[in-house]
Amino acid sequence: MPSLVTWCCLAPLVYVGIRAVQKLFTPGPFENVPGPKPVSRLLGNLPQFFDQQGWEFQRDLSESYGRVVKLSMPFGAKWLFVFDPKALHEIVIKHQDVYEETPIFRTGNALILGQGLLATIGDHHRQQRKMLNPSFAPGHLKEIFPLMLDVIHKLHQALSEQIAQDAPKELDMLDWTTRTALEAIGQCGLGYSFDPLTEHAQNPCGEAFKALEPTIFPMHVMRILLPYIVKIGSAQFRRRLLEWTPYPRLQRVREIVDTMDATAKEILRVKRAALERGDEELGRTVGQGKDILSTLHVQDKLREEITKMHAQLSQDGLDLTYDVLLGLPYLDAVCKETLRLFPAVPFIGRRTQEPITMRLSEPMTGVNGDAIDSIFIPVQSTVIIGIAASNTDRAIWGDDAHEWKPERWMSADSCKTDSSGTKVPGVYNNMMTFLGGGRTCIGYKFAEMEMKAILYTLLPSFRFDPPADKEICWNLAGILYPTVGKTSKKVEMPLKITLIRP
Ligand code: HEM
Repeated sequence: MPSLVTWCCLAPLVYVGIRAVQKLFTPGPFENVPGPKPVSRLLGNLPQFFDQQGWEFQRDLSESYGRVVKLSMPFGAKWLFVFDPKALHEIVIKHQDVYEETPIFRTGNALILGQGLLATIGDHHRQQRKMLNPSFAPGHLKEIFPLMLDVIHKLHQALSEQIAQDAPKELDMLDWTTRTALEAIGQCGLGYSFDPLTEHAQNPCGEAFKALEPTIFPMHVMRILLPYIVKIGSAQFRRRLLEWTPYPRLQRVREIVDTMDATAKEILRVKRAALERGDEELGRTVGQGKDILSTLHVQDKLREEITKMHAQLSQDGLDLTYDVLLGLPYLDAVCKETLRLFPAVPFIGRRTQEPITMRLSEPMTGVNGDAIDSIFIPVQSTVIIGIAASNTDRAIWGDDAHEWKPERWMSADSCKTDSSGTKVPGVYNNMMTFLGGGRTCIGYKFAEMEMKAILYTLLPSFRFDPPADKEICWNLAGILYPTVGKTSKKVEMPLKITLIRP
C-alpha cells in the first residue's frame, strides 16, 4: 500500500499527466508559428532548450525560424521564444501586467530567496521597487563608490600577495570575483561584511550562492511541478517531506537555502541590534562575461587607457570618482560588448495573465507560408524572452552580431535598430541584458560600476591569460556559469595571472 508521502508526490503528476493528454489531442493556437521539431514526443524540445551545452540549439532558434519561435515542451505544452523588438516592447513595457513572471520562477524564488523582488508581482512588486530604487540611483552609487573601491582594493591586495614577480600563478578568478561581488553588495548595500577577502578565509554564503544555479538548473521536471507541490499541506509538513526525500540534488538545494537563510537572519539580527542601540554608523552604511580579458590586444589597449588615467589622477592629486570611471570610452566599449554577447541571464520566461495579441515589428513567414504580423496568445501561455537572441539579432547588429568587437561601440551610431526602425526596449544601450520596463534589473548600474571598478583596479597590475592546458566552458543556465571542460560539475574559472606592476 503506497504511503501518504507517495500519494502526495503522485497527485500532482497524475493531474499534470491528464492535462498533457488533453493538450496532445487539441490543436494549439501556435500551429502556424515555425519552430524546431521536438526531439521526444513526451519531452518535446525541453532536453535541447535546457541542455547546459545547448549553444548550437540556442543559436539555431535565433537564426532559423523567425523572431518568434514555437517550442514544444513536456505534457503537450507549447512555448513561444520571442526576440522581435516590437513584441519585446509589448512584453516588458506596454503590457507588462499581462506578461508576468512565470509561477515556476516565482515559486522557486519565493522558496529560495523569500518574498522579494524576484518573487512578487503587480502592486506588491511595484511597492518593493519604489522602496529599493533609491539605493540603486546614480546619486547613491556616487556616494558608495569609495566603499566599493575599498572592497576591490582588498581583492587587489589578495592577488598581489599570492603572485610573485616573474612567477605567474593560476587562480580561480570566479571564486575571487564571486567573493568580491558578495562583499561589495554587503558593504555597499547592507553595511555588513561577509568576507575579509583574504586567501584562506572561508565564506559559506558565497559558496552557497555560487552553487545555487548549477544545482537547481537541471531540476526541470521538479521545477515544473513546484507551483503544485507548494499547495500540499502546511509549510511544516512540506519541510518534513523535503527532508525525507531521498534525492541528493534536492538535499543540496536545502543545504544551500538553509545557509543563505541563516546568513540573512544573522544580518538582520546585527542590524536590529544596531538600530536598538541608535547606532549612527548604521544610518551611513545601510543605505559581475566570458574570459574576454584573454583577448590580449584588447587587454593591452584597455590597460593603456586605464594606466593613463591613473597617471593623470595622481599627477593632479585626485582620487578616482564614479563619473571619471564611467567616462572612460574604451572601458565602456569593452563592458558593453561583453554584456551584449554574453548576457549572464540568456533568456527569461513570462506567463500571460489574460488572452492577448502580440504584434511584430516586421512580418515573418508562418508554417503555411503566409506572412504573420501578429500572434494570438491565450491566457496562461509561456513566453520566453530571448535575451541573448535579441542581443545577437543580425537584423539589428549586422552580420558580425556573433563576434566580440568592442570597437562597434566607439562610433556615434552604435545603438542600431532593424529596418522597421523599432527600438529594442532594453534599459541598457539597445540590449536586453538587464531587461527593460518595470522589472528592469534594479542593480544594473551597480553591476556596471562594479565591473568597471574591478577592471580599472586590476588591469594596471596584472595580466590575465587562459590556462594553456584547460578549456574553460560556459554552461547555459538561468545564470551562465563556467567550468573546466564540458562535463565538470565544479564551477570555476582558473586563469593564469602575471604580475606586471606591484
Ligand atoms: C551583469 C550582471 C547582471 C545581469 C546581467 C542582471 C540581469 C538581470 C535581469 C535580466 C533581470 C530580470 C529578471 C526578470 O525579469 O525575471 C534582473 C533582475 C534583477 N536584478 Fe539583476 N543582473 C545583474 C546584476 C545585478 C546586481 C549586481 C544586482 C544587485 C545588486 C541585481 C539585482 C536584481 C534584482 C533585485 C532583480 C529583480 C528586479 C525586479 O524583478 O524588479 N542584479 N537582473
